[in-house]
Amino acid sequence: MIERKPRLLAIANEVTKGGYPVDVGTDHGYLPAYLVKQGIVSRALAADIGEGPLLAAKQHIEALSLSDRIELRLCDGLTGIDLSDKTDIIIAGLGGETIAEILLRRHPLSQTLLLQPMTKVETLRRFLLEHGYRIEKEIPAYEEKKAYTIIKARYDGVIRKGDALFFTFGALPQSEKKEKYLYFQSLLSRLEKKQKGLQKAQTQERTELDRLAILIAKAKEYLQEEIYDHHSGNL
Ligand SMILES: C[S@@+](CC[C@H](N)C(=O)[O-])C[C@H]1O[C@@H](n2cnc3c(N)ncnc32)[C@H](O)[C@@H]1O
Repeated sequence: MIERKPRLLAIANEVTKGGYPVDVGTDHGYLPAYLVKQGIVSRALAADIGEGPLLAAKQHIEALSLSDRIELRLCDGLTGIDLSDKTDIIIAGLGGETIAEILLRRHPLSQTLLLQPMTKVETLRRFLLEHGYRIEKEIPAYEEKKAYTIIKARYDGVIRKGDALFFTFGALPQSEKKEKYLYFQSLLSRLEKKQKGLQKAQTQERTELDRLAILIAKAKEYLQEEIYDHHSGNL
């Protein structure tokens, strides 16, 4: 199950030990089941908007005899969930905009946020900074030939002004994990694809092309640093 999902394992590593997490969009319920089974936490809440996914989670949790320690909840985002005793909010596998909307509806949140967006990562980073959440770190993960980032953030009320570089790369350059190399590679090919598209369309959007050129140069720079590290045996 989760053993074959490095993305979820990377999240599990960051959950508050002995805490009480909520997993929003739990689907099969693998993550809360793993957290309780491994003794990382003693209880968890698994929530999903879909009846089908929640039924799958119920079956998985029952099969592991964890029903007394994992509560299931059919709801949209964090709607109706008592957060007063919760330590972590996990939202993985949803789009960045949807994650931001879910957080906004219960803003501000004092729990540790563990967020893994599938799309619109830049939008989510911007949302966090502009709403007083500090991005403590990002953990890159590589699963089924795709690179992901897991954002760990906490509310401190300080509104930060990010720039295009931060919204694009986030705190990944500071990560020690070698998977960030794969993340930068996929980011670079996405940026280059966008650049080609704009060039082909002979767009007049000079500012956007200039912006892309800077981001592409930065991505290459990060990749070079990684290659250098690799050759010097630091990976
Ligand atoms: C791709 S799955 C991700 C499952 C798991 N979290 C993971 O990362 O492997 C997305 C799940 O989020 C649920 N979902 C989508 N929008 C949601 C929302 N607004 N509130 C709660 N769950 C939602 C879907 O029903 C689905 O089960």
